[in-house]
Amino acid sequence: MNLKQMVGIEASKYVKDGMIVGLGTGSTAYYMIEELGRRVKEEGLQIIGVPTSIASKKQAESLGIPVKTIDEVSHVDLTIDGADEIDPQFCGIKGGGAALLFEKIVATYSKKIIWIVDQSKMVPALGKFPLPIEVIPYGHQQVLQRFDTLGWHPILRKNDNGEVVVTDCGHYIIDLHLEKIDDTHKMANQLDKIVGVVEHGLFLDMVDTVIIGTEEGVKTIHADKN
Ligand code: 5RP
Repeated sequence: MNLKQMVGIEASKYVKDGMIVGLGTGSTAYYMIEELGRRVKEEGLQIIGVPTSIASKKQAESLGIPVKTIDEVSHVDLTIDGADEIDPQFCGIKGGGAALLFEKIVATYSKKIIWIVDQSKMVPALGKFPLPIEVIPYGHQQVLQRFDTLGWHPILRKNDNGEVVVTDCGHYIIDLHLEKIDDTHKMANQLDKIVGVVEHGLFLDMVDTVIIGTEEGVKTIHADKN
């Protein structure tokens, strides 16, 4: 069993009958959704999934997990998702899989958030992983220029065929190659004020529990959000 599968299965143990569960996106969240699908089928687990991407929705549906959108549920009990980097304060970068907008909306309206990662995602400071920024296509060249002027080394995300990546909600992603973010809250505040930016990949003070896959086994850490 690989580390991503290990943490995916471990996180699914937090899911109980009757829960409304935010389903994250990415190669680690994939294993968590697979395990929930298994439990639905084999154990008769009764849940409603709130997927954070078209890919996760398709996967959940193929496994027989009933799904609803965030607007069709009264609340979300728990969201389980991957992350690209997590610092010692449990702040994270997300959006490597271009699903950060739905992921942040579902996480924001969740009572509890669990991130599942392998050890390599735990870093002393955020920023080595390029920070994804979701932008409106209209005016994105101006936003790129603004980022460049600010010294943030922006690159418009393209796929392997050289086509601009379009998110599930029709936006573009600009990745900021910052190397190190000294003040994550200041950076988030700056980004929040730039017109054309829909959302950014800094997920600050949100997560409750981080489940880390290591060669020695699974390590679970509960974040102190005070
Ligand atoms: C998608 C995300 C993912 O959670 C993040 O990129 C981690 O993905 P993976 O588990 O494949 O490494 O934020 O937008």
